Amino acid sequence: MDFTKTPFYVFVIIIVLLLYIEPIDSSRLKIKPSYIDNNEENPSENNHLVTNLPGQPDVNFRHYAGYVTVYQKNQRALFYWFYEASSLPDEKPLVLWLNGGPGCSSVGYGATQEIGPFLVHTNGGGLKFNPFSWNKEANMLFLESPVGVGFSYTHTSTDFDNLGDEFTANDAYEFIQKWFLKFPTYRNRTFYIAGESYAGKYVPELAELIHDRNNGSSLYVDLKGILMGNPETSDPDDWRGLVDYAWSHAVVSDETHKIIRDSCDFNSDNTWNNPDCSQAVDEVLKQYKEIDIYSLYTAVCIANSTKNGSGSMEVMFKSTSKMMPRIMGGYDPCLDDYARSYYNRPDVQKALHVSDGVLLRNWSICNLTIFSNWADSKPSVLPIYKKLISAGLRIWVYSGDTDGRVPVLSTRYSLNALGLPIIKPWRPWYHEKQVSGWYQEYKGVTFATFRGAGHAVPIFKPSSSLALFTYFLQAQSLPSAR
Ligand SMILES: *[C@@H]1O[C@H](CO)[C@@H](O)[C@H](O)[C@H]1NC(C)=O
Ligand SMILES: *[C@@H]1O[C@H](CO)[C@@H](O)[C@H](O)[C@H]1NC(C)=O
Ligand SMILES: *[C@@H]1O[C@H](CO)[C@@H](O)[C@H](O)[C@H]1NC(C)=O
Ligand SMILES: *[C@@H]1O[C@H](CO)[C@@H](O)[C@H](O)[C@H]1NC(C)=O
Ligand SMILES: *[C@@H]1O[C@H](CO)[C@@H](O)[C@H](O)[C@H]1NC(C)=O
Ligand SMILES: *[C@@H]1O[C@H](CO)[C@@H](O)[C@H](O)[C@H]1NC(C)=O
Repeated sequence: MDFTKTPFYVFVIIIVLLLYIEPIDSSRLKIKPSYIDNNEENPSENNHLVTNLPGQPDVNFRHYAGYVTVYQKNQRALFYWFYEASSLPDEKPLVLWLNGGPGCSSVGYGATQEIGPFLVHTNGGGLKFNPFSWNKEANMLFLESPVGVGFSYTHTSTDFDNLGDEFTANDAYEFIQKWFLKFPTYRNRTFYIAGESYAGKYVPELAELIHDRNNGSSLYVDLKGILMGNPETSDPDDWRGLVDYAWSHAVVSDETHKIIRDSCDFNSDNTWNNPDCSQAVDEVLKQYKEIDIYSLYTAVCIANSTKNGSGSMEVMFKSTSKMMPRIMGGYDPCLDDYARSYYNRPDVQKALHVSDGVLLRNWSICNLTIFSNWADSKPSVLPIYKKLISAGLRIWVYSGDTDGRVPVLSTRYSLNALGLPIIKPWRPWYHEKQVSGWYQEYKGVTFATFRGAGHAVPIFKPSSSLALFTYFLQAQSLPSAR
């Protein structure tokens, strides 16, 4: 092009346009001062749209998966899978779901065994549609957290030395803020956090962080409430509930239970220094190894298990430290094998934007190293409950009553310790004309049980779980009449 022949007014127009565009650009940048991605990641959502997931049933909603860099310097990135609500996604809230462990995957458990729309088929070959998926009622976001869990990674190995509750909450907060940059239409959406098991710690901890950082912030997150299933809440109450439940459900003898009652002080810093107590609690765990602690009355997976009995139960005794022994949250070891074979397929990893389908990532449902090395764990999140209650957040807790890991007794002891006034006393709640469980409303907390459900309630009671989720979102009492 010969510029000498270009009329003068064309230059004027170009200059005016440049002047006009410039202020728009800088004002856009102002929205995201501390959360600008420096890497090559395309900030638009479209490059994470999942289009050809092997074995996926046909659906009429979109879903997205991929990495969000949470800390550029150390190359820490968290993997998420996001399902738009199956109808009217623009009008429905956004819910973040977290599984526990610590060290277990929310994709492997929550998304593909419990409440996501695609459940891993028992033969590992594909996915089957879940008619009780929670994305019927909300836009569902599943996060693999912290780094080292599932597909999430860091390129800085010293990060692993710092893993714990606080680290996890901080990275999850970074994740949410950066995820909003990719999905700006959700920035101001009504937001909830839900989870189970060790996420009983993660969920209130993240809610507290959001609450604290919301204060006058332009990065406000419209957090309205939290929902927790069979949650680890307060170590002393959780332990007392575990041993009392084992005794009352005929897992251990009267004699063992009596020794525990006489010798164990679960509120003490050195509970396990008492040999009588340690031995008696060991006996409880030994009996639980024979069955499925997460679901007392179902069969254990024997086939092809490389471990003995219910292979998924991992117990960590750290007698030298002040920490309580920990038992990992894990459920059906057979299902775990199916998920492992599915997520390690090259075509699946490529479709989920995890790898190029050639250099694969090694996915496993729980990272035992993370579980064993977990150093920073809040002994109790009840003080956070109090803070969130006074901040007006909706708090619902549910409990499958055949779980021995975080049994219904643990949750009752924990909630009782809050000493909240009772608004609606204990009564049954109904689903499809049957008693689903019982519930009680406190000032600030709703507590509900699921009759005959294990640790991961939605696996056992998919339809009534979806019902409870719906009542939670609508802030309505559970139905107390047939
Ligand atoms: C979110 O709400 C804030 C404050 O009301 C507003 O300034 C901002 O534009 C909204 N963001 C989006 C993406 O709608
Ligand atoms: C919010 O920030 C203001 C000013 O920094 C401070 O005075 C106030 O205590 C904060 N509120 C909460 C709940 O943290
Ligand atoms: C057990 O392993 C064998 C051989 O590896 C395999 O053919 C079979 O399908 C496996 N069974 C289950 C239930 O996974
Ligand atoms: C199975 O149990 C036996 C005896 O309790 C033990 O010696 C062995 O190490 C266990 N094997 C595995 C793989 O855990
Ligand atoms: C993947 O990880 C599992 C568990 O950490 C390990 O046993 C296995 O050897 C790893 N596989 C590969 C191919 O690295
Ligand atoms: C599991 O976590 C450890 C650090 O605790 C890490 O070194 C390892 O790479 C992780 N495993 C996988 C498969 O990501």
